[in-house]
Amino acid sequence: MDRIYITTPLYYVNAEPHLGSAYTMIITDTLARYYKANGWEAFYLTGTDEHGDKIAQAAAQAGVDPKPFTDQMSATFQAAWDSCGFSYDHFIRTTDAYHVRYVQELLTKVYKAGDIYFDRYGGLYCFGCERFYTEKELVDGKCPDHRTVPELIEEENYFFRMSKYQDRLLRHLEEHPDFIRPEGFKNEVVAMLRERIGDLCISRPKSRLTWGIEIPFDQRYVTYVWFDALINYVSALKHRGEEFFEKFWPQAEHFIGKDILKPHGIFWPTMLMAAGLPLYKHLNVHGFWTSEGQKMSKSLGNTVSPLEMKERIGMDAFRYFVLRESVFGQDADFREDALVARYNADLANNLGNLVSRVLAMQNRYFSGAVQPLSGDWRKEDQALKDKFAQAETELHRHMVELQFHRALESVWAAIDHANRYIVQTAPFTLFKDPAQRTRVGEVLHHLLEAIRQISRLLAPFMPDTAKELRRLLELKEGDGDYRALWGECFSPGHKIDGPTVLFPRIELPSEA
Ligand code: MSP
Repeated sequence: MDRIYITTPLYYVNAEPHLGSAYTMIITDTLARYYKANGWEAFYLTGTDEHGDKIAQAAAQAGVDPKPFTDQMSATFQAAWDSCGFSYDHFIRTTDAYHVRYVQELLTKVYKAGDIYFDRYGGLYCFGCERFYTEKELVDGKCPDHRTVPELIEEENYFFRMSKYQDRLLRHLEEHPDFIRPEGFKNEVVAMLRERIGDLCISRPKSRLTWGIEIPFDQRYVTYVWFDALINYVSALKHRGEEFFEKFWPQAEHFIGKDILKPHGIFWPTMLMAAGLPLYKHLNVHGFWTSEGQKMSKSLGNTVSPLEMKERIGMDAFRYFVLRESVFGQDADFREDALVARYNADLANNLGNLVSRVLAMQNRYFSGAVQPLSGDWRKEDQALKDKFAQAETELHRHMVELQFHRALESVWAAIDHANRYIVQTAPFTLFKDPAQRTRVGEVLHHLLEAIRQISRLLAPFMPDTAKELRRLLELKEGDGDYRALWGECFSPGHKIDGPTVLFPRIELPSEA
């Protein structure tokens, strides 16, 4: 059986969910639904990253101990994702006991194998990033992300012999050119690996930070948050048993944003090598969203909230916009005018009108009862069916390439075609001629089939809309009609529901 293991980054619990985190969720949720609908065995993992300085500081600011703080924030995340309808199979927290145990087990193993050593180290440390920087990485002496001057810290710590695996990782990337994709990000990692990567400091003295997983062989230290968090991808599978791990791990598809390329592209595979575990299958890297051309930030008040979007235009419309407007791997801009334009053109007009027109005619002309198809198909009937078959073939290809915008384009080409088919066949004119009633019944039958196919093709992208279409067509959830061939789903007399407005137009103030 085909299998896929889909993961998102674990979200830091120091901020509310926003478009950046929701974007990875939308992509991965779409893929998980797509593969499950195609009969694959899929495991879809998300969760929260809860240890480290950043979280300890956020808790302190809130005046709460880290544990209750993370409990509450993690629950907020989970509730937000549930309200968005994301279909993850497991939600992991890095404070979960099984995760903590596994991290300690792995640390012990790597330590015993000699790949973790104790050393004195002085370096420039950025508290925001929770890591040491080399002079070369700084911009004007400041952390490139936080624009703050890092502090000189000298202390004794544990180090992971990352450099030992540098050449092996470079070879792996050469032998598996799509290990990290799109290619630009692979090239970035290759460039990093052509320089000295050094070893990785993986502990923090408790004198400085206590909120972390204790180093199992030295109680004076806790584990560096990245060394802890990355391991979730394995601990979540191991939690379900060794067999489960063996089954899914080789099929791991990680999804991340480009800012966390280095930990996932270098720390993680070298950690896996040291632990004697196979590498993940692919690291899939997406770009960043800006809002009206600017970096999203709380102070600018321009962050896009998935829950607010759901409230305003519905989750499916938000999903559609995000997937249709961006190209996987590239940056994208969230613009209000683009959102309204796409919503009105693609959803309210093309899709919404098609559905309401067809259902209205079916009800007006035949009281909702589906009419039989004769064996005698006209050229335009066949062309309509072919267009949907073409959309499906293209969609499969685009999904494999993670080209979500293209996949949606293909479906919309078929939707456009169905609208043109109405103009071409003009059932509203034909109906005036009693001798043409049978043909009108056939035309509408083909159009109902088109709507059924739309529901099928859109299900991974717009699950609620797909469901609503099936409800309007009075189809059951079961597999039978889902897989039925064109023309073999609706038995004559099957009654469909009345028309409805799926996507009410958004009126701009100037139009109102
Ligand atoms: N906790 C780490 C990940 C550990 S994975 C073992 C982390 N968390 S995060 O909450 O800061 O970021 C989560 C994800 O959101 C990352 O993939 C990040 O790239 C993504 N995004 C945050 N802001 C974003 C945008 N503005 N646009 C797109 N994605 C962005 O990093």
